[in-house]
Amino acid sequence: MGLGKVVILCTMAALVAGQEKSARSAMTTALLRDLRNANDIYVRPGADIGGPTVWVNMHLFGLEKLKERTNVLQAGMSVDLRWNDPRLSWSPEEFGNLTTIFFPIKDMWIPDITIWQSADPLTPFFSKEQDICQIFSTGDVVWAPKARMTVYSNMTVGANGEVHHRARAYLGSWMLGVPQIDIHPSSPTIGSTMLQWSPLTGINTSVERVIQVFNEIPGISGYPLLEVTIEAIERGNETTGELIQ
Ligand SMILES: *[C@@H]1O[C@H](CO)[C@@H](O)[C@H](O)[C@H]1NC(C)=O
Ligand SMILES: *[C@@H]1O[C@H](CO)[C@@H](O)[C@H](O)[C@H]1NC(C)=O
Ligand SMILES: *[C@@H]1O[C@H](CO)[C@@H](O)[C@H](O)[C@H]1NC(C)=O
Ligand SMILES: *[C@@H]1O[C@H](CO)[C@@H](O)[C@H](O)[C@H]1NC(C)=O
Repeated sequence: MGLGKVVILCTMAALVAGQEKSARSAMTTALLRDLRNANDIYVRPGADIGGPTVWVNMHLFGLEKLKERTNVLQAGMSVDLRWNDPRLSWSPEEFGNLTTIFFPIKDMWIPDITIWQSADPLTPFFSKEQDICQIFSTGDVVWAPKARMTVYSNMTVGANGEVHHRARAYLGSWMLGVPQIDIHPSSPTIGSTMLQWSPLTGINTSVERVIQVFNEIPGISGYPLLEVTIEAIERGNETTGELIQ
């Protein structure tokens, strides 16, 4: 086989690969356009039958006591939110077998989940940085923003001088109650395997679904919330010294 033939064959292979690539990106563009046109971001998914169920899983990557407010704990975390939006589903066969796509959250409905009694109520819970989510052809949505939780803690000093913290926070939709939305923990605890160099130790967590009822709000039969409890012990000052060395 002459060199010319090899070059031609290589060029043809590159052309075919290029065509497949551009067909794929054309499919992605068509799918994004379809999803954008089909979705009304002001209406929650499944509004006519109640509303969506949001599954929440949390992973801590930092937990500390504020210097200036000693009975306030601040937790850095990643929050994995999952729900189904039937308006964002598609038939993979119609779009070159694409089964998943990344989508900007500004163009779709997302739950207004927040910390109810935040010790820093004017600071948003979710970071603005993670503005892309993943959508599957079934309409399943995964959004995993970083978040910061600032909550009051009940601080007690044990007989041995050990300082214990017990903080409780409620996580849920601010506006939507039963039956417009539901919220469930994907795990009964907060993941702490990503927690390193935390000034607090002995960390125990629990996450439980509760219904908060306010009698003074007519027409609302309660808000589904996740009750998050974090217990931790402050490291002794000796330990801190060791860490600095
Ligand atoms: C999609 O998948 C089907 C079944 O596996 C296959 O026959 C078809 O060629 C695929 N279409 C594309 C565009 O890859
Ligand atoms: C704080 O913790 C102590 C010791 O566990 C307990 O006796 C007390 O009731 C708690 N206070 C609040 C407001 O939860
Ligand atoms: C966490 O749980 C363990 C085992 O039950 C217990 O020994 C530890 O004291 C707990 N930590 C706190 C801060 O309550
Ligand atoms: C460490 O704690 C002990 C008693 O709890 C105290 O006497 C000492 O001054 C502390 N050291 C520092 C560097 O804070």
